[in-house]
Amino acid sequence: MTKQLGILLMLLLFFVGAFSQQKTIDQRVDSLLALMTIEEKVGQMNQYTSFWTVTGPAPAEGRQKKQYEQLRQGLIGSMLNVIGTENVRKVQEIAVNETRLGIPLIFGFDIIHGYKTLAPIPLAESCSWDLDLIEQSARMAATEASAAGINWTFAPMMDISRDARWGRVMEGAGEDPYYTAIVSLARIKGFQTQSLAANNTIAACAKHFAAYGFAEAGKEYNTVNIDPYTLHNVVFPPFEMAVKEGNVRTVMNSFNSLNGVPATGSHYLQREILKGKWNFDGFIVSDWGSVKQMVAHGYAEDDKQAVKIAATTGSDMDMESEGYVTYLADLVRKGEVSESVINDAARRILTVKFELGLMDDPFKYCDPTREEKLLYHKEHKKLAHEIAKKSIVLLKNERNLLPISSKQKKIAVIGDLAADDNSPLGSWRIGSDDHSAVPVLEGIKAYTKNYTYERGVALKNGKTDFLHHVKLNNTDTTGIGKALRLAKSSELVIVVVGEHGFMSGEGRARTDIGIPHLQLDMLKQIYEANSNVVLVLMNGRPLDLSWAEEHIPAILECWHLGTASGNAIADVLFGDYNPSGKLTMSFPRSVGQLPIYYNHYNTGKPFIPNTDIVFHSHYADQANTPLYPFGFGLSYTTYEYSDFQVALRDANKVKVSFEIKNTGKKAGEEVAQVYIRDIAASLVRPVQELKRFKKVALEAGASQKIEFTLTEKDLGFYNSKGLFVFEKGSFDIMIGANARDVQTKRITIK
Ligand code: NOJ
Repeated sequence: MTKQLGILLMLLLFFVGAFSQQKTIDQRVDSLLALMTIEEKVGQMNQYTSFWTVTGPAPAEGRQKKQYEQLRQGLIGSMLNVIGTENVRKVQEIAVNETRLGIPLIFGFDIIHGYKTLAPIPLAESCSWDLDLIEQSARMAATEASAAGINWTFAPMMDISRDARWGRVMEGAGEDPYYTAIVSLARIKGFQTQSLAANNTIAACAKHFAAYGFAEAGKEYNTVNIDPYTLHNVVFPPFEMAVKEGNVRTVMNSFNSLNGVPATGSHYLQREILKGKWNFDGFIVSDWGSVKQMVAHGYAEDDKQAVKIAATTGSDMDMESEGYVTYLADLVRKGEVSESVINDAARRILTVKFELGLMDDPFKYCDPTREEKLLYHKEHKKLAHEIAKKSIVLLKNERNLLPISSKQKKIAVIGDLAADDNSPLGSWRIGSDDHSAVPVLEGIKAYTKNYTYERGVALKNGKTDFLHHVKLNNTDTTGIGKALRLAKSSELVIVVVGEHGFMSGEGRARTDIGIPHLQLDMLKQIYEANSNVVLVLMNGRPLDLSWAEEHIPAILECWHLGTASGNAIADVLFGDYNPSGKLTMSFPRSVGQLPIYYNHYNTGKPFIPNTDIVFHSHYADQANTPLYPFGFGLSYTTYEYSDFQVALRDANKVKVSFEIKNTGKKAGEEVAQVYIRDIAASLVRPVQELKRFKKVALEAGASQKIEFTLTEKDLGFYNSKGLFVFEKGSFDIMIGANARDVQTKRITIK
């Protein structure tokens, strides 16, 4: 038998195996469904957050007691936020041993950038442009979470983020739909791998469907009104890819209304697009309480009607509304909701439980020895460190202030955040332990002893409360005198400022996206005292850095980098790692520019640089461009792009080739980017669209040829009806180090 034939046969066997496994699952689901009462089916559709301290006293009074009873009656299908194998086992034992059919629960959790060991926040991680590492990061998260009893994560978040006022930009992969799709795919692969049946894989959840990132004015949970054209080309692509190529097993709908319809009650989004057009065969979970919230939206008269709408339009599982479990069985009995609706939902949920192997071994994730061994595993810490280094973006480096020589005398380190071991963990880290980040000071200590630390002004006013509200210190300037004296007597000042880790994330929209006031004041005064300032920024969203960009010679964007934060920052500060991160969201010059994104349309009166024409699309008081463009990031070396060629091939394929050379003195990694622009089309197209990128490692002096082929799939777009069209004509092809600094060649397809 030839080798090819052998491979073919193996593939065939694999598909037959996968098919027959699915067939068995389908049959087993059918048999189970046939045994279930209406209440039990609805029970599968009900999800609660962890409702009592399983390790503590018996369930308390009121709602908790009722929920405990519901658990025993098989009226709960899933729980979220149960922490640790011991607790998961206790709850699971009740579901398996005390309910009539013994159907196990599926345990969900927000594992957004790690469970115990934390990688950088997702927005930061996306700046690495390193898909392999991003996948490994999700793998690490899944390994730890599954070892702690969890079998389902509410990630990846794939909302397109164009407005830095929105606190949840920290959770996604930035403003570009193509890049977000590819990063999300890597994350899904890392969570789910090829086989959900293993005990170290977990089901992923594509969220939030849909358009949550377009919340008006960046205000949390706000209304979204966008046209179908934007939906199909900007919002949907990552979700479509997650379903079709990533086989994502669950999708979460979203809190917002979209064009007048709350997403949780949207027939169009859930039945027509997701389950219809894309054939999604996993299940949809509502967002927290979003079923009942349709009453507040003004879309349902009361909770009962909200339940009816949500279930019939395709929300399969109700997270924390307690709505399905209260009303749905009755609605089915009265014929107001068809029984096929709950059959379909329960079927989808049970299928995923079978796929996870929970039906065969409900305790497969509950091994305390594994838990003990894998949480904070030293290999995970190493990986988190590696990703953190690669997520840092060098925004400015004048006078070659960076990297710092470890022989440098008299370094001052100033800023509350420099000593902080909690804030760098960022938002969304509920599984991890507070104060488990390496602070910047500790990282620096590993490179030099020639530094002195002063806190300067405090970032916060007191402690964060249990909901992690950060009260900013806007009054207490104690500490600034000492900091200024230190700056004056030092040769170099590292200033660590920015947002506290809990200033971004859900419910953390801001109208002021500057460096929090007193810290900015302090930075200005330090700069007056000593202009040799290296600014180390920590934040969960693009900030307005206009003043800093104008004055400060060196700026390092360090986000919230997770467990290994301080080590990674020190590696870059002292040149042990040559920064390679590039921004995935444009940084505005002021909040007034928001929303700002590189892939906008041109308008009929586009901005013309270097003119004072009044009647063109611009602001009278500010430049049109962002402060730092999409794709931007510097390095300690330099790169040159040359020999750029485009050629037309058969079947409307465009071959793009160019060479990159490392023209500096240090080895480094460069993210080369390819953009297109469709010059004229039946609908206006963006001025630029990212279509390919490659991260290449180059020794000093080395060069590499890069080649890509663009196809009709890259050159076409969705029309307003959601049909994909390719239109012949002229296209600009652009290559470069970021969206601003590009070389362009035009090609015409006849
Ligand atoms: C609300 C958030 O919007 C969602 O992303 C999250 O997964 C759920 N809460 C569960 O915590």
